[in-house]
Amino acid sequence: MKPFDVYPLFDINPIYAKDVWIYDAQGNQYLDLYGGHAVISIGHNHPEFLKALKHQLDQLMFYSNSVINNLQTDYADALGDISNLPDYQLFLCNSGAEAIENALKIASFHTNKKRVLSFKNGFHGRTSAAIAVSDYDSMASPLNRQHLVTKVALEDYKSLEKAFKSNDIAAVIIEPIQGVGGLDQVSAPFFKFIEFQCRLNHSCLIVDEIQSGSGRTGKYFAFQHHEVKPDLITMAKGIGNGYPLAGVLIDKDFESKHGLLGTTFGGNHLANKAGISVIEILKKQRLMQKIPALEHHFRDCASNVSSVIKVKGKGLMLGLEFDLEISKIRKKLLYDFKIFTGGSANKRLLRILPPLTIKKQHIDKLFNALERIT
Ligand SMILES: Cc1ncc(COP(=O)(O)O)c(C=O)c1O
Repeated sequence: MKPFDVYPLFDINPIYAKDVWIYDAQGNQYLDLYGGHAVISIGHNHPEFLKALKHQLDQLMFYSNSVINNLQTDYADALGDISNLPDYQLFLCNSGAEAIENALKIASFHTNKKRVLSFKNGFHGRTSAAIAVSDYDSMASPLNRQHLVTKVALEDYKSLEKAFKSNDIAAVIIEPIQGVGGLDQVSAPFFKFIEFQCRLNHSCLIVDEIQSGSGRTGKYFAFQHHEVKPDLITMAKGIGNGYPLAGVLIDKDFESKHGLLGTTFGGNHLANKAGISVIEILKKQRLMQKIPALEHHFRDCASNVSSVIKVKGKGLMLGLEFDLEISKIRKKLLYDFKIFTGGSANKRLLRILPPLTIKKQHIDKLFNALERIT
């Protein structure tokens, strides 16, 4: 048997990692400014995180959702506290796409409607409804295309208002900062307008924080830089620091019913322990509080690179837009300077999603390399 070949691979075989560093089989050291696609939040192999997981492994790794699991309530409390959203309800699952499927399903149950309004360049995952509401048609099969979806451009007030005339919008789904799409952000007034239209038309506002959450922008969720109140918030990636953990935060007024949602693995003992430990470390090391200074330093450094025409994003969800395509720059950074970075749908954008434990000297290392490449 061999793996189904769906991923283009870099010729690197990592075998060990520590904080912001990755090591390959030949002993090469790489600076990880991509965090395995925004997954590594508190740093690779954080010793306290490993200790917590090992302790839980020795106790109980898994039992199904048919028994009391105090770790689930502990995790819900910890999330409510760090996000300052103690009134939401929590449903746990295993991956980002699964969180999106569940959020859309909850919205549809709640409103008894079935169309979703989403945004051009948005990305929400690869499963059935998740890819249907994403703006990546080549990834959607005929099966996925059966969902009723209307896509409008960010900041297009008229089209958004017009779309609601169909009277069948169960939910609007939005990334506060588009990840895969290339780091365009929703403006505060447009976000408010979306919220207003949702309230007016009895539709749900779903905010996808799968990439922008877990403190990456300096607030626990990126939407918290704006004055909106989502009905549903999806999260994954950084909340587990590499352990597969995802979830949906659900407004307190949404009614639960046995059997409405369910999963075998979601919210298992080890997963909750991972989530709790990430939050404890985020707090203990004051990682979110340090992000504005790091972003400031990054923007300062970027202003000295003449081929960078724009710095996009917020906090440590950042992108450098160049006046040329970045694929060669990205390869040189990786193979010649041993620095992991990311790409996006915007071929001129170099994406930076480092562990939140990054320091100024790591940012300097990137810009020293860019100075020599560009
Ligand atoms: C904003 C956003 N939503 C959803 C997903 C899907 O997450 P997963 O790959 O865990 O299914 C991603 C993955 O990149 C994402 O960036």
